[in-house]
Amino acid sequence: MGGARQLGVGVVGAGFLAETRARCWKQVVSAGIAGVASRRRKRAEDYARRFDIPAVFDDLDAMLASPAIDVVDLCVPNSLHREMAEAAAAAGKHVICTKPLTAYTGQDLPEDASDADVGGRDRGEMLRVAEADARAMVDAAKRADVQLLYGENWIYAPAFRRALGLLAKADSVLLEMRGGECHSGSHSPYSRVWRHTGGGALIRLAAHPVGAMLHLKRTEGLRRSGKPVRPAWVSAETADLSAVAGLSADELRVAGEWGEVENWGCAVIGFDDGSRAVAWGGDHVLGGMESGLDLFASNCRLRLSLSPNDMLSAYAPDESVFDDAYIMEKIDSGAGWTTPMPDEDWTSGQLGMCQAFAANLLDGVAAESDGELGLEVVRVLYSAYVSAVEGRRVVLA
Ligand SMILES: NC(=O)c1ccc[n+]([C@@H]2O[C@H](COP(=O)([O-])OP(=O)(O)OC[C@H]3O[C@@H](n4cnc5c(N)ncnc54)[C@H](OP(=O)(O)O)[C@@H]3O)[C@@H](O)[C@H]2O)c1
Repeated sequence: MGGARQLGVGVVGAGFLAETRARCWKQVVSAGIAGVASRRRKRAEDYARRFDIPAVFDDLDAMLASPAIDVVDLCVPNSLHREMAEAAAAAGKHVICTKPLTAYTGQDLPEDASDADVGGRDRGEMLRVAEADARAMVDAAKRADVQLLYGENWIYAPAFRRALGLLAKADSVLLEMRGGECHSGSHSPYSRVWRHTGGGALIRLAAHPVGAMLHLKRTEGLRRSGKPVRPAWVSAETADLSAVAGLSADELRVAGEWGEVENWGCAVIGFDDGSRAVAWGGDHVLGGMESGLDLFASNCRLRLSLSPNDMLSAYAPDESVFDDAYIMEKIDSGAGWTTPMPDEDWTSGQLGMCQAFAANLLDGVAAESDGELGLEVVRVLYSAYVSAVEGRRVVLA
């Protein structure tokens, strides 16, 4: 690809993540969305109109046949990641795949398996299947000589980039990392069904801090010894905190009725240099989206607040003042003190990620957040599910 050429992005899906990506790709000078494909053509057409996208394709195959597409940006449910990534790679297109790279959604069971069969599947089998799918994606990209870019936005968040720079400058060794992502819970019925999500708070939310932590230790190892520091074992707990004893449904102000997936998960990760990380995800936290990392290093300490942050604080005596103005993710009232986020696409790293991925692909440079990282995150998270059910530390193969 030549330096002056615009990278042609094909967005697959037209839902929540695709909206974010459309806003971000619009701001990347060296790239543009050349087309969209989604399940319902009508929704794809509406998306194309709103974001001024020149082509709507009937399906992924039609998109892959277009010479205008250099990379597909998969914004589709987890169960479709592997087959779509493999098809795109086989057609010679680069692939951006969001988190999680893969998930266990019952792909090894007969089609008529019930939701309970999928959610109740042996956790060791879940780990085996999800990891094999992720490995297949990495291998398909290698075979086709295209890049598989893992869409972990935390790695491109401005706070994370600054932290990486300071850790390198100080030549720090991370002793402990703590981090999580939590909010008051998804109200989508899909988020409660293992078949759709591949798990609960761990896979939906903790995937972000886990990806960031694995990347930090990988980078540190390469800097200090030329070899990545890797996760060696995982010990985890999961729970449904909406079902705490003695609590009635009308007392609960966070999302309830979780059923088969956990709404709280916490994993302790041991690395092969002896350092530790504690990562959690939760749907039980009021007060807006909380995403952050606390880094305890050999010679410094860093605290990253992706959300909320206090770039802007606002006070309004009641919610009528800001009316329906958007404040931040998972805050639906502007009453009292709030922290309206000036630009969530920037602070979350979504924009920086699109900019970096475009530069990587146009320059032929490997992305920092790659398929191998996505694979390692899948391995850690499903090992966490094994640990939580079996009540033991799980050593990573
Ligand atoms: N920060 C992050 O990195 C982040 C944040 C949110 C979500 N995600 C990830 O993004 C992915 C999508 O989540 P979402 O929240 O955007 O879901 P969503 O709002 O339900 O959107 C999914 C989109 O995929 C489309 N789709 C479904 N099957 C398809 C098919 N066979 N071919 C083409 N399109 C198809 C859907 O079509 P219809 O419109 O017809 O339903 C919908 O437009 C998930 O993997 C999720 O984990 C990542």
